[in-house]
Amino acid sequence: MVTTDTTITPIAPIDLASQYLRLKNDIDGRIAAVLSHGRFILGPEVESFEREIAEFCGARHAVGVSSGRDALVIALWAHGIGAGDAVFVPSFTFAATAGAVVSAGASPVFVDVDPDGFLMAPDDLVRAIERTAEAGRLRPKAVMPVDLFGIPADYPAIGPIAEAHGLAVIADAAQSVGGSLGGRAVGALAPITATSFFPTKPLGAYGDGGCLLTDDDSMASLFRSIRVHGQEGDERQQRKGMTGRLDTMQAAILQAKLAVFPDELDARERVARAYDAGFGDIVTAPHRPDGTRSAWAQYTIKSDRRDAIAAALAAAGVTARVYYRYGAHLHEGFREYSDGPGSLPVTEGLAHRVLSLPMHPYLTDAEIDRVIAIVRQAAG
Ligand SMILES: Cc1ncc(COP(=O)(O)O)c(C=O)c1O
Repeated sequence: MVTTDTTITPIAPIDLASQYLRLKNDIDGRIAAVLSHGRFILGPEVESFEREIAEFCGARHAVGVSSGRDALVIALWAHGIGAGDAVFVPSFTFAATAGAVVSAGASPVFVDVDPDGFLMAPDDLVRAIERTAEAGRLRPKAVMPVDLFGIPADYPAIGPIAEAHGLAVIADAAQSVGGSLGGRAVGALAPITATSFFPTKPLGAYGDGGCLLTDDDSMASLFRSIRVHGQEGDERQQRKGMTGRLDTMQAAILQAKLAVFPDELDARERVARAYDAGFGDIVTAPHRPDGTRSAWAQYTIKSDRRDAIAAALAAAGVTARVYYRYGAHLHEGFREYSDGPGSLPVTEGLAHRVLSLPMHPYLTDAEIDRVIAIVRQAAG
């Protein structure tokens, strides 16, 4: 619903303009520096940003790439995964997770999520692996858990399951850089972590971008080769590759944003806690398993009155969004990989109950209070 009351000040889901005002001098200076030196592809800022983000995430290597989806495809190719291989993914996520598997030439196998949270359910992963192995049509090769809305997946449970079945673990951390689990940062929780710097992510560029994080030296070299057409050493193509680089301008912008990122993460946490306290048990606040810190890409509530709450927010000029209205197993483009409606009941149930509220570091107390008041009234 579009509000017609011009006296209402809208509340947007994110606020990149306030962030730019804060960082303008730094960002403008860094962009000017790139324009002056002119090394737009794999310039010095890419390497220095890679060092900084690797250190921030507690990984030995960071390899800047063209997007979060490309990061996942590069990781799959580096493992030699392609036609005839099964990659286990949650369905309750953005389409790019399963989409990357299809882009790599492999087949996504959809797994349900935990009823309390939004994360891949380890017991359903086991069921999916066993069913795939029994059917014998696809070779189980990898699992790609998703740190949905910024909350790290259950790597302590998923890691041993993957190991027992000989599967690679590739974390889809597109939404979660800045989060942590058991004191370890996202980027150090899985052997390979892929993230996105899409502008609306907690750490976002001013265009597309992504990165791969790993401690594995040989994987990092493969990633570097695949992102430049599979070249290595000289101009010959040594393997399958793509145009998959993070560009210099985006790296320079990300350096400015990374400098204030810890402070912004604290601000997101403050918003989340204010929402938690304001809602009490009138709606279900996002579940954070013990020991997790979310990067708060989204603050997603659950309620049977979701549609009424969304309508009330919209009428008051507050933009709230439904992520995700359909599990990926119900997207037309994934039909051939899906067992159809009814096959993933938790995912299908969540799709009717979730609502993501405005969440960014520059929300004022007054704005937070307004959101809380509207939600409380509509949910009560
Ligand atoms: C969970 C998840 N995976 C993958 C991606 C893909 O990232 P990108 O848009 O940078 O390709 C996104 C981003 O939108 C995402 O949210």
